[in-house]
Amino acid sequence: MQLASDGLPAMDVGAWAENKHYYLNRYCSMFAVGTSKKWSRRYYIDLFSGPGIGINRETGQESPGSPLIALANPFTDFIFVEADPENFEALKVRTEPLLNGRHAEYILGDANAVFSEIVKNVQQQGSLSLIFADPYTIQLKMRTVQWFSENFRADLLIHFPYGTFLQRVIPQIHTEMTEETLMELNEFFGGTGWQELRAHKPNPRVYLDLYEARLRELGYMIGDNYPRMVNSKNATLYYLVLASKNELALKFWKITNEIDPYGQRTLF
Ligand SMILES: C[S@@+](CC[C@H](N)C(=O)[O-])C[C@H]1O[C@@H](n2cnc3c(N)ncnc32)[C@H](O)[C@@H]1O
Repeated sequence: MQLASDGLPAMDVGAWAENKHYYLNRYCSMFAVGTSKKWSRRYYIDLFSGPGIGINRETGQESPGSPLIALANPFTDFIFVEADPENFEALKVRTEPLLNGRHAEYILGDANAVFSEIVKNVQQQGSLSLIFADPYTIQLKMRTVQWFSENFRADLLIHFPYGTFLQRVIPQIHTEMTEETLMELNEFFGGTGWQELRAHKPNPRVYLDLYEARLRELGYMIGDNYPRMVNSKNATLYYLVLASKNELALKFWKITNEIDPYGQRTLF
């Protein structure tokens, strides 16, 4: 684990992390400002918070992680979940000074197993939440998404690990895949339908269609834009997927995507 200039642990990140944070920041701003007339409490819930600072592995430059980006936006309440104790402690030290009187709840644990802690800390009446789920690969289980769908009024911004995991692992022949990975994929997709994808040449649309079909069954609509995070060779690492039960969220997501991280207007 690397240490940042404040002496606390930091994530080792690639240049793409800045692009991810660009989209997160634009959506947070639209969400937290654009819904403030209707909803007096606006929660930001980070299910895989990280330590709050990343260090670019090529340039050595430090940049704020998702919790710090959310804190710079006018949410009224925050819930930060993190499973790693060192990241968790660093996150608290870095974020508490930025609360400015707003309330934050810190939960040390597995994002898929802390529902009761989360629900205890959200005042559902008059509130709307943005849930950011940005694990390393397939740690977000579909049953967790289902739980949010049934119990929360929330938009979800989800990291979809195409190049970093699915494209590489799903085409493996059955005997090469461990029982554990098989189970994890079942839990990620919420069923065994992904096994039929093995016969296909890896293709992001086919994988996304399967994932989104399950989200739609849970009552979500999906944003039309899928910002793509790439490595230095322009290979896809992952996509961001926006799921919501509210048309306004889809509009916010469309506007979020109208200008890319390099200032270019996107053509639709
Ligand atoms: C990709 S990093 C998060 C980056 C952060 N969202 C950002 O943009 O700054 C993933 C984080 O999730 C944590 N993590 C991994 N599995 C987890 C789980 N099951 N529940 C909660 N946190 C988990 C890791 O320790 C790591 O800090």
